[in-house]
Amino acid sequence: MLKYKKVSKNFGPIKALTDISFAVAPGEFVFITGPSGAGKTTLLRLLIRQIRPSEGEIYFDGLEVHNLKNHQIPYLRRDIGSVFQDYRLLTDRTIFENALIALAVKGTPKLERNPRVEQVLSLVGLSERAHLFPSQLSGGELQRAALARALVVNPKLVFADEPTGNLDPKTAEGIMELLQKINEEGKTVIITTHSHDLVKAMKKREIVIEQGRLTSDSDPKDLDSKEDNNKEEEDQKEE
Ligand SMILES: Nc1ncnc2c1ncn2[C@@H]1O[C@H](COP(=O)(O)OP(=O)(O)O)[C@@H](O)[C@H]1O
Ligand SMILES: [Mg+2]
Repeated sequence: MLKYKKVSKNFGPIKALTDISFAVAPGEFVFITGPSGAGKTTLLRLLIRQIRPSEGEIYFDGLEVHNLKNHQIPYLRRDIGSVFQDYRLLTDRTIFENALIALAVKGTPKLERNPRVEQVLSLVGLSERAHLFPSQLSGGELQRAALARALVVNPKLVFADEPTGNLDPKTAEGIMELLQKINEEGKTVIITTHSHDLVKAMKKREIVIEQGRLTSDSDPKDLDSKEDNNKEEEDQKEE
């Protein structure tokens, strides 16, 4: 469902990523680890086409991400729930409204919106805090709220960038359990982290990035598989 093929990204003279290749199958749970500055956030920004690769190709669900026209980018992002380190919640809106706005942007019929928001807030354990503002929540709750907003539109893949970076170990464990639950309910999940302890405990596939290079992959996938090639037609039917 996702493939990076010989991807490099330079910011002027800075080589953020060099020759990165890996593939992720539908339903997988993958950790991307590596020290600060390794290139983890850059990988995510490339996936949602905030930035373009300097070289190489990125495929997601039949889309050539590297070649998308600007007007096609919303179709890509509709299927990817991205959770950034700084949460990016609207501070003047409640947790409920933050998720609701995501549904409005997607064009979900009005009558379906409230029940869907209630459903995801319950999934992440925030039903009781739905009407609070971001400034009134703890770090763990903010992470849950950001996840709820990402999930509410029912994306195929959830990509969380250092979701436990600012949390104490016990709260971090709760977030990981939640991400595992989300994965068990059928979403492909990719998580970046610089915390090795956390990854060890979970026994999942781990891709290691160091100084912009992929240095190990505990469960590499066949990069030449054809699974991505026949999706275009199916995607268009959904419109
Ligand atoms: N917009 C940018 N302009 C210049 N350099 C950048 C930019 N974004 C990231 N970098 C550089 O790319 C490298 C990887 O950054 P990043 O992907 O944020 O790493 P990580 O998320 O693993 O900490 C770093 O050296 C960083 O300074
Ligand atoms: Mg980062």
